[in-house]
Amino acid sequence: MNNLPNHVAIIMDGNGRWATERGLKRSEGHKEGAKTLEKLAIYAKDKGIKVLSVYAFSTDNFKRSAEEVNYLMDLFIVYFKEKFDKVIKNNVKIVFSGRKDNLRKDVLEAMDSVTKRTQNNDGCLLNICFNYGGKEEIVDVALKLAKELQNNKISEKEVNKDNFYKYLYQELPPIDLLIRTGKEQRLSNFMLYQASYAELYFTDTYFPDFDELCLDKALDFYQKRDRRFGNVKKV
Ligand code: IPE
Ligand code: IPE
Ligand code: MG
Repeated sequence: MNNLPNHVAIIMDGNGRWATERGLKRSEGHKEGAKTLEKLAIYAKDKGIKVLSVYAFSTDNFKRSAEEVNYLMDLFIVYFKEKFDKVIKNNVKIVFSGRKDNLRKDVLEAMDSVTKRTQNNDGCLLNICFNYGGKEEIVDVALKLAKELQNNKISEKEVNKDNFYKYLYQELPPIDLLIRTGKEQRLSNFMLYQASYAELYFTDTYFPDFDELCLDKALDFYQKRDRRFGNVKKV
C-alpha cells in the first residue's frame, strides 16, 4: 500500500453502547474492545504502520462509576500482564502517554512490566493513552518548559513548534490519520497538539466491531486525501 500514514491514532469509542444494545453489561463491551485492540495492533504492524496511538482511558473517564473504573483497571492489568503476549511476540513496542498520578499501584506495575517486556521490540510502536488528557499534556509541557527555562537548561530560542514534541509524554511524529469509532464526531481531549493536521475519519461502527477490514477502509480514505498543510495544490 503506498501513501501509508506514519502515525495512526484511534479514539476507541462505543464499547458501552455495543454491550447495552446487546442486553449485556458495559463491562462486556470493554472486554470485547480489548480483544479488538489486540488484533488491530498486530494488523497495524503487519501493514507497516510505524506508530499506533490509542485512547484507552481519559482523565475524565474517572467521572464514571467506581464499578466501571475498577473493571477497566483490572482489565488493563490482565492485558498488560498476560494477554498482550501475542502482541509482544509480534514485535510491537508498547509505551504509555498520560499522567501517572491517580493510578493504582498494581496498574502502574503492570504498565511498567509491559513497557519493559517490549522495550527492545521495533516492529510497530503502540502508544497507549492512559489516564490521558490533551489539555493536561500541554499544561504539563508548559510546566516542564518553564522549569527548564528558569534553570537555564534551555533558551527561549530553542522552544519552537517542532522541538515541542520532545516535551510531550512521548516524542512521536504528528498524527496523519485520526479515527474515531462509535458515531461521535469530537476529539474528547485527545492528542490536541499532535492532531493539528491529522485527517479525521469518523465511523458509526462501535469499537468492538472495528476489525481489520474497517481499518483498511480508513486507510483507503486516507490515501484519497490531498494534504496541503496551508499551501495550495501544485498543478
Ligand atoms: C470507550 O467506550 C472506552 C472508554 C472510554 C474506556 P465507552 O465506554 O465510552 O463506550 P460508550 O461511548 O459509552 O458506548
Ligand atoms: C473518549 O471517549 C475516551 C476514550 C475513548 C478512552 P468518551 O466516551 O470518554 O468521550 P465522550 O464522553 O463521549 O466525549
Ligand atoms: Mg464513549
